[in-house]
Amino acid sequence: MVTLIEYYKTFLIYTMKKIFLLLIVFFTCFQVSAEDRKTIRVSTDNTDLILKVAPNGRLYQSYLGSKLLNEQDIVSLPSASGGDASANGWEVYAGSGAEDYFEPAVAITHNDGNPCTILRYVSSESKAVDGGTETIIRLRDDQYPVDVTLYYIAYPKEDVIKTWSEISHQEKKPVMLSRYSSTMLYFSAEKYFLTEFSSDWAKEVQMSTQELQFGKKILDTKLGSRAAMFVQPFFELGFDRPANEHQGDVLLGTIGWTGNFRFTFEVDNEGNLRVIPAINPYASYYELAPKDVFKTPEFIFTLSKEGTGKASRNIHAWARNYQLKDGKGDRMTLLNNWENTGFKFDEKVLVELMKEAKHLGVDMFLLDDGWFGKRDDDCSGLGDWFVNEQKLKGGLGTLVQKVKALGMRFGIWFEPEMVSEDSDLYRTHPEWAIQIPGRKPMRGRYQLLLDLSNPDVQDYLYERISDILNSADISYVKWDMNRSISDWYTALLPANRQGELPHRYVLGVYALLERLTSAFPEVLFEGCSGGGGRFDAGMLYYCPQIWCSDDTDAYERTIIQYGTSFFYPISAVGSHVSVVPNHQTGRVTPIETRAVTAMAGSFGYELDLNLLSDEEKESVTKQIQQFKEYGSLIHNGTYYRLSNPLEDAYALWAFVSEDKKEVLVQGMIFRTEANMVRHCVPLRGLDAETVYRTKDGAAYTGDTLMHAGVLLPKSWGDYYPVSMHFISE
Ligand code: DGJ
Repeated sequence: MVTLIEYYKTFLIYTMKKIFLLLIVFFTCFQVSAEDRKTIRVSTDNTDLILKVAPNGRLYQSYLGSKLLNEQDIVSLPSASGGDASANGWEVYAGSGAEDYFEPAVAITHNDGNPCTILRYVSSESKAVDGGTETIIRLRDDQYPVDVTLYYIAYPKEDVIKTWSEISHQEKKPVMLSRYSSTMLYFSAEKYFLTEFSSDWAKEVQMSTQELQFGKKILDTKLGSRAAMFVQPFFELGFDRPANEHQGDVLLGTIGWTGNFRFTFEVDNEGNLRVIPAINPYASYYELAPKDVFKTPEFIFTLSKEGTGKASRNIHAWARNYQLKDGKGDRMTLLNNWENTGFKFDEKVLVELMKEAKHLGVDMFLLDDGWFGKRDDDCSGLGDWFVNEQKLKGGLGTLVQKVKALGMRFGIWFEPEMVSEDSDLYRTHPEWAIQIPGRKPMRGRYQLLLDLSNPDVQDYLYERISDILNSADISYVKWDMNRSISDWYTALLPANRQGELPHRYVLGVYALLERLTSAFPEVLFEGCSGGGGRFDAGMLYYCPQIWCSDDTDAYERTIIQYGTSFFYPISAVGSHVSVVPNHQTGRVTPIETRAVTAMAGSFGYELDLNLLSDEEKESVTKQIQQFKEYGSLIHNGTYYRLSNPLEDAYALWAFVSEDKKEVLVQGMIFRTEANMVRHCVPLRGLDAETVYRTKDGAAYTGDTLMHAGVLLPKSWGDYYPVSMHFISE
């Protein structure tokens, strides 16, 4: 029988237990609600990205748009996201395998085979970094020791946000990653219009726009380390209506990755859009060892309420301030021998080219393909980075001395990532080439790829390239890459880790470029991939200039450069005047028109200047003087697109100096007709009160130029050049 005392004792213990439990529940709830109040704000001067921890402890996007005025409103924001666990919750880094039925940001198969990851908020912090504020947010799975850290750097002045993620874990054995996005962004609008910039060799950056419908649209590449044949690594989104140059809500986004990428756009059943920029998981499952960190590429984006023009200017400013090593530098004029000599040259031929170039005022000579190994055509020699002394008697030193004696600088071409089977390098190290054992390798331009994930390959290339760069006074390197990657297999990794090669290849390229650009900080590295096949923010970090296209036809180049200008600053765009009839199209354009087109880039020539008429030579001298006068304005000024060459009868653009005292307007009128209407085109970005004058004394206020516009010249013949300069006293 239970005594009264025992009864009271049991009752007391029971009550104490209950109180204890209630206290735990109270404190847990208190904690959740404290976290619930956790609001993270990532802001630029005009944009806010607001993230919130929901009562379930997970992190959701509650707002992305124009900057909000009142700090106190941010906590109580109404949210389209629902803000809790549901299929349509706007989870900031949604894991695969849970209740979110749309595309995930991350997919991890854990040690026990479970493919589900649910990330909960742990902590966050912010700190000042160069140009902005960095916010770091830590998330963790509550069932598995998996961590994800989200990084956001907000650049207020440029209105740009750069974001990426890091994935790591402490499970006992490696986990398998099959999705690994840089970030995830959500939008809610009436309609979404996606502009893609598709590409092929000599047809880079062709724009097309489509309305996104329910479901998914994917833009991706599978060429390994270049984009030609697919789409460039950037996109534009117009909200409610197609993006317009001067007005409307627009997002421009780009991924800093010189490898396979994938942009996923998914419109859900409620009409919301999620955007997922990521490395393409195609043939790329990744075994992540405990404590290793998988860092995703950076995604860089800007939101504009003033159309695409403003968005492009934001991205240009950001790239010039933080991404391009010489973002504010001036460029030299250049002569490249490729479109003129191809592989057929010797020292005498080159010196003749240079002499005339010097005479006309060119600063630098670039020796393109064919100076090394056995290289008389594209079937052999790649990998043997030793001077071919049959072509260049006395070696590079003698040639460079002659260049220097003329008062010019010297640059040289490499295609480091490649090997020809007919080369000493391949005969010595066939195992360094990427190929599948037992299969006939796929060749591209008769060549194979070196396995850049292999440190021995990186060391060999570093040694060979630095040897050449140390052997003479070299100011400039053109880094070419003329085929895509196939036959994914590396002798370095075991069977279960072959999927890491696409990722490790790109890291290998970056590691080599990092070593070389650090060892030779004065050398300008220019990127190239059979033209603009590899034009991305990752490559631009090492190569602040990229050869835009092998299509040097001034008319077609205008269209390619128009597309490229949506993302990349003018100084980054390699552009040359070449011979007519043009090598690719047979089109004949005036030399002045070829020059204004090439000046909307890093300006140079790629033809035998000796063969020009006296009149043309005089024009070249003037062009070079003009570039010397305006080069700084072109490369450091603010760029305005004044027409859409795909729709208008002319192409027109302008460079406005930072202090708004000077403006250069250039372009071309495509076709001339009898009794033709002359267009007036409004300028942009001037100071309304300032009086701007032309060289011949005409004066206009900024207000007039921006409203009434400038009158285009009376054209004569097709592809007629336009060049007008205005300056205030
Ligand atoms: C492709 C580049 O785009 C050209 O400019 C030239 O460098 C050739 N490669 C050389 O092989």
